[in-house]
Amino acid sequence: MEGTERENSTLPVDEYISHQRGMYESLHRKSLDNPEEFWNEHGNIVDWYSKWDRVLDDSNAPFYRWFLNGKMNVSYNALDRHVRSHRRNKAAYIWVGESGTEKIVTYHGLLKRVNAFAKALLDAGLKKGDRIAIYLPMIIEAPVAMLAAARIGVPFTLVFSGFGANSLAERIRDCGAKVIVTADGGNRAGKVIDLKKIVDEAVDQTSTVTEIIVVRNTGNPVDMVEGRDFWYDEVTKEQNAYVEPERMDSNDPLYILYTSGTTGKPKGVVHGNGGYSVWIANTLKWAFNPQEDDRWWCAADIGWVTGHSYIVFAPLILGLTSIMYEGAITYPEPDRMWDIIEKYGVNLLYTSPTAIRLLMRYGDAYPAKHDLSSLRVLGTVGEPINPAAWHWYFKTIGKSKCPIVDTYWQTETGGFIISPAIELGLGSLKPGSATFPLPGIDPVILDEQGNETPSNQKGFIAIRKPWPGMMISLNNDPERYKSVYFSKYPGKYFNGDYAMKDSDGYYWLLGRADEVMKVSGHRIGTIEIEDALVSFPEIAEAAVFSKPDEVKGEAIVAFVIPKHGVAHGRELTEKLKKGIRETMGPILIPDEIHYVHTVPKTRSGKIMRRVLKAVYTDQLPGDISTLENEASVNEIREAIETLRKEVGR
Ligand code: WT7
Repeated sequence: MEGTERENSTLPVDEYISHQRGMYESLHRKSLDNPEEFWNEHGNIVDWYSKWDRVLDDSNAPFYRWFLNGKMNVSYNALDRHVRSHRRNKAAYIWVGESGTEKIVTYHGLLKRVNAFAKALLDAGLKKGDRIAIYLPMIIEAPVAMLAAARIGVPFTLVFSGFGANSLAERIRDCGAKVIVTADGGNRAGKVIDLKKIVDEAVDQTSTVTEIIVVRNTGNPVDMVEGRDFWYDEVTKEQNAYVEPERMDSNDPLYILYTSGTTGKPKGVVHGNGGYSVWIANTLKWAFNPQEDDRWWCAADIGWVTGHSYIVFAPLILGLTSIMYEGAITYPEPDRMWDIIEKYGVNLLYTSPTAIRLLMRYGDAYPAKHDLSSLRVLGTVGEPINPAAWHWYFKTIGKSKCPIVDTYWQTETGGFIISPAIELGLGSLKPGSATFPLPGIDPVILDEQGNETPSNQKGFIAIRKPWPGMMISLNNDPERYKSVYFSKYPGKYFNGDYAMKDSDGYYWLLGRADEVMKVSGHRIGTIEIEDALVSFPEIAEAAVFSKPDEVKGEAIVAFVIPKHGVAHGRELTEKLKKGIRETMGPILIPDEIHYVHTVPKTRSGKIMRRVLKAVYTDQLPGDISTLENEASVNEIREAIETLRKEVGR
């Protein structure tokens, strides 16, 4: 959250941790000094059909290739190897439906389902290297589809089920998906979302899809197109099928996940098989130190990287039992999360600062109704956590006994990169700091010119060395991969966050430094919403930025310039909001829309979102002469004055 206060006190949770920090330090040092030896060892967290020739090939940097020529399969590692062990009948998932139904799926049962669905995908004519799209809510068929695709070497893109038809179509087009896996509907806060209808609209805008497989989930009526659309239960009739896992090269793509950047089109982040699996499994182990009989609950949506890495792949590779919850955390009552923890004896909980702030608002009485004593570790992810939320989580939920594991990472990093590491000796925590880099990660804080900033000074965070979980490229756009991440500081990975390292070496992540917003932890590009707004015939121009929000971290504000003669007011606002909901999805709807006549721009015509935000939040410095290299001070001043009147600030 912007402008949150920081604390420098450390907390005495050390006594609950078995090791001291020394172990972390020696492992981190070894990982950077001798990566070959380090990863030769840690690469064995997964089973390989044949081992790599070299840990890292950096001859074509920044296209780093990890575990060169190693062969493995992610679904084999997530399923088959456990089924051959004492974990055969262990629960892989305890699935909890919004309405209270529950389903326990064992490793053996999950492998059966994955094989049956892998067979269905092969029957649909898919071959290694073809792509599919998955547009499913939080149901068991989502991990089944992901693992089945991984099994046959078909990269998938899973699209968050809250995205609208245009967002889905854009992703189908970019990855060239031949098959879409969806459901008749999804349950959310007591309502049914008509997913199949959205898929039909999206498919009409694309040309690659030959088959749509539909899971019967909510039972609402859907239109099925003869010869194109098939029911999931009908194509998976062969429930004892066995599909031999493909021997995937470590650097073959596993999936593509689209995420927002500073330009219009979402970026298709491509993750590979080998390095990615090694990274997510090790990081989950280091950070949370899960035990064999633990129950792990990552309360994210499967549509984000958090769900991909830490609901699906990492916990299954480690053979853990996960809780998977279908619905809204406040439905039917604001104690749903605490109820699930008590009912299933959750030991490790992983959620977002937004969720914590939301639940905190409902007061202490809700968690007090429940026995939360099974909890041992509490994690957070997605945005900086403000100290007030941290303390509430630590005291009211963890009873001052559970360390808070604040994991900092990104879609592009594959897994955690800066986080407390319980398995390696946690040391002391500072509320709001993600503490230290995990083994393999070599961060540095730089100023605009690329010089390292002194401690306690804000700068841009960059990573000096590659690590196994990093994306392998951007889909269809290797040039953009190079220019977005490796051009600001040549040779170093940079992806747009402010950070600071304090004099004790703790890292503080201070929010996005670019035109990307974090709304309820969701990553949203200002430009995506501007593009959506100007696609309405009534709108000439739009400028989008965020303002601080007590629960969501940031809220979306849009300044819109209507075309001449367009009547604007409540009716137009409703039309814009409804249109964005349908085409883009509800998470992209602006919280506020203001009609204006002008927005300040730079000489080259770029909207000055920073100035808009400052005007709006009343933090505009009196002296705006520093902006003079961007535009003439008079023009900016005039634009600001007009704006102030128009939006009443
Ligand atoms: C951006 C990445 C990380 C997986 C889910 C989000 C912000 C993420 C933290 C944290 C402060 C954080 C950053 C980052 N962020 N975790 N613990 N503390 N900021 O992945 O959608 O790719 O978003 O989320 O700004 O760049 P994402």
